[in-house]
Amino acid sequence: MSQNAEKLVHVDTPSRAYDVHVGVGILAEVGAITREAAGGERACIIADSNVWPLYGEKVVASLTEAGYDVSHLTFPAGERSKNLSTLGDLLEGLAGLQLTRDDVVVAMGGGVTGDMAGFAAASYLRGCKVVQVPTSLLAMVDSSVGGKVAVDLRAGKNLAGAFFQPRAVVADVACLKTISHDLLTDSCGEVIKHAVLADGALLDELAISPLNGPTRSDEEVATIVAQNVRIKRNVVSADEGERGLRQTLNLGHTIGHAIEAASDFSMGHGSCVAAGLCCMARACEAKGWTYPDVVERITAAVHAHGLPTNSHIDHETLFHYATHDKKRHGDTMNIVVPRGIEDVVVRRVTLPELRELIDLGCGA
Ligand SMILES: NC(=O)c1ccc[n+]([C@@H]2O[C@H](COP(=O)([O-])OP(=O)(O)OC[C@H]3O[C@@H](n4cnc5c(N)ncnc54)[C@H](O)[C@@H]3O)[C@@H](O)[C@H]2O)c1
Ligand SMILES: [Zn+2]
Repeated sequence: MSQNAEKLVHVDTPSRAYDVHVGVGILAEVGAITREAAGGERACIIADSNVWPLYGEKVVASLTEAGYDVSHLTFPAGERSKNLSTLGDLLEGLAGLQLTRDDVVVAMGGGVTGDMAGFAAASYLRGCKVVQVPTSLLAMVDSSVGGKVAVDLRAGKNLAGAFFQPRAVVADVACLKTISHDLLTDSCGEVIKHAVLADGALLDELAISPLNGPTRSDEEVATIVAQNVRIKRNVVSADEGERGLRQTLNLGHTIGHAIEAASDFSMGHGSCVAAGLCCMARACEAKGWTYPDVVERITAAVHAHGLPTNSHIDHETLFHYATHDKKRHGDTMNIVVPRGIEDVVVRRVTLPELRELIDLGCGA
């Protein structure tokens, strides 16, 4: 065990049960955790060109100590690598190493690595074992929990993928020290979203002491990451296949995705979600669908992190991108209404109603 007690979050889905380990300095535990959760003789680490030089050696040492014969595959860092061509290279790489279904893929990195290595593991030999080692805040609080894995297609993001649960997740918040402040800040958008969904006390605490601020200790960050994992766990374990409750994770995303697309993806996803949260809360308040303090509490937390609380894109453009969302159903769309903090509902709106919400909630 590491000197700091790690926090365990148990995830129980219909397809698999596993533990998410959150702690400070627990990269050194990856080998022991993998041994216990997945067994096998060989481990292949998949990492991108930024993360491999930073943490590869430490994880190889840990896996070797746990008795694994360790190999690795790397790919160029960045969302542009999350495609079928890199996936193909990874699959050929796994086959070239003659990994068997008893062996383990260790997906070490941000959400791009988790999604792509997870999808490689889901499809290699129709499914081999995967352990997720998220190293970015987004990967720790969001993408490594819930088992969604994917690559992008030319037609859009995450269009080819699967639901594939890992054997274990190891989130070492010490890895966040090497993340740029901007990227850390951006990912706080999803943390605030989780707090709105299920932890009002955390939301108000984040407004006073932001997660990207200088006063947060590693231990506090680990506690907040574990709280976030628990929130997402509670949603996904109740709805593994994304038919009902899981839609609430889309809070802030209808307008957020539209801002992201309208900015031609120059704005980070989390920043767009943060702005989307505030815009939707204002719109819902104007419609009389929310309790009085919702807008204020959400915008206070968003503002404290230096994230945008509004959009400055013209409404017609936002509407255009919002209605090209893959979550549209014919002439209606499901939106997530923050009726209160820890009290959100999915509501089906017509396209003219969506346009009205954009007019009511967004700036410009
Ligand atoms: N599967 C899901 O449920 C889910 C949910 C949300 C997002 N996602 C996906 O996650 C991806 C975004 O995740 P992301 O923001 O982690 O992107 P990313 O994996 O590209 O990581 C961002 C950057 O940070 C670098 N990095 C990662 N960890 C680092 C560390 N500890 N130190 C220094 N640099 C580090 C990476 O090399 C990369 O350059 C998107 O592709 C998105 O679609 C998936
Ligand atoms: Zn998101």
